[in-house]
Amino acid sequence: MNQTERQQYLTTEFFKRFGQLPTLFSRAPGRVDLMGSHTDYNHGYVMTMAIDRDAWIAARPRTDRQISIASLNMDGSSTFLLDDITHDNAVPWTNYVRGVADVLQIAGHNLSGFDGLIHSTIPFGSGLSSSAALEVATATLFKLFNNLGIDSVGLALLCQRAENQFVGVNCGILDQYSSALGQTGRALLLDCRNLTTETVALPKNFQVVICDTRAKRALVRSEYGKRRAQCEEGVRRLAKFYPGVTALRDVSPAQFDEHEADLPETVAKRCRFIIQENQRVLDLANALSNNDLSALKSLTADSYLGARDLYQIGCPEMEAMMKAMNSAPSTIGARQAGAGFGGSMVSLIDTYSLKPFTRHVQKEYTAATGIEPKVYPVNSVAGAGPVVPV
Ligand code: GLA
Repeated sequence: MNQTERQQYLTTEFFKRFGQLPTLFSRAPGRVDLMGSHTDYNHGYVMTMAIDRDAWIAARPRTDRQISIASLNMDGSSTFLLDDITHDNAVPWTNYVRGVADVLQIAGHNLSGFDGLIHSTIPFGSGLSSSAALEVATATLFKLFNNLGIDSVGLALLCQRAENQFVGVNCGILDQYSSALGQTGRALLLDCRNLTTETVALPKNFQVVICDTRAKRALVRSEYGKRRAQCEEGVRRLAKFYPGVTALRDVSPAQFDEHEADLPETVAKRCRFIIQENQRVLDLANALSNNDLSALKSLTADSYLGARDLYQIGCPEMEAMMKAMNSAPSTIGARQAGAGFGGSMVSLIDTYSLKPFTRHVQKEYTAATGIEPKVYPVNSVAGAGPVVPV
């Protein structure tokens, strides 16, 4: 479906549900991280990009304070009043919309209601930030309908707050930031402490390819919280030796080596991974700008090994996918993506080898696991905004 067809499809479906035509379409993309797993909540660095898979909301403002939201991809729909925002346990995806409305109002913004219909091309639960995209598309809609004076960083922070405080997932800033501030044709070197970015051009002959393991991600929610707590414990202990350390970002590799033995074993492993992974993000930025392919290969390989052995966010399907990706002749680099525990992984390949790469990964991965993976190219796109008619 091209943009015009998608707009037409949403318009027709919107009319069927609401009996009127939408007046505005907002869009917000998913993201993939090229380096920097779990570094965001440690105030570190991530190499990320917004991808050409996105959530759209077709909407029409209402004169009252009611929000009616439905989706073409997810079951159920929901209606609520801006004066009484509660959780909807029957249709849980609507909590992303409710949460954004709630935090915007708590932050003092005046909102009015709308009827909205969502259409997303980001596979759900595959680690590409489908929920952050829904939050950011919702916030963008509120911003446009109510002329809110919020910049893109502010919007990302509010959406993260909605996820932390309303939905109850203690995520970092990576997903919402990437969705709100992505740039066409560039990756972002994101500094999660200062919330600033440098943009990095991907070499022309590079193609980023998502390799979705389609493994069940049952562990992700509980284990994510445990990893955060272990990093925080590391910070508390290391701060005794290095006053001024408030996040793992502040600890240099040499400082860590000095006091690794003072940490409980598991905490030490988690901290080692984060400290090394942070450095790898900076090294990847250099490797990309120097077109240093061998550095790229070893950095991505080391990132995966650290994620598997130190941070322990791997699973057998990720191991099988890593083997499948790395045994393709055109692979320049391959690693995990998102929070881990299954979901999508990411490869950098030579653009001209997309077809043989895809065939190879599908064949090898299915032979090893019995699961048919999803393998598809993605390109970097601009962050959230109104859908501009073509
Ligand atoms: C999830 C979280 C992000 C980030 C990644 C891991 O996507 O939502 O904040 O922590 O995992 O890098």
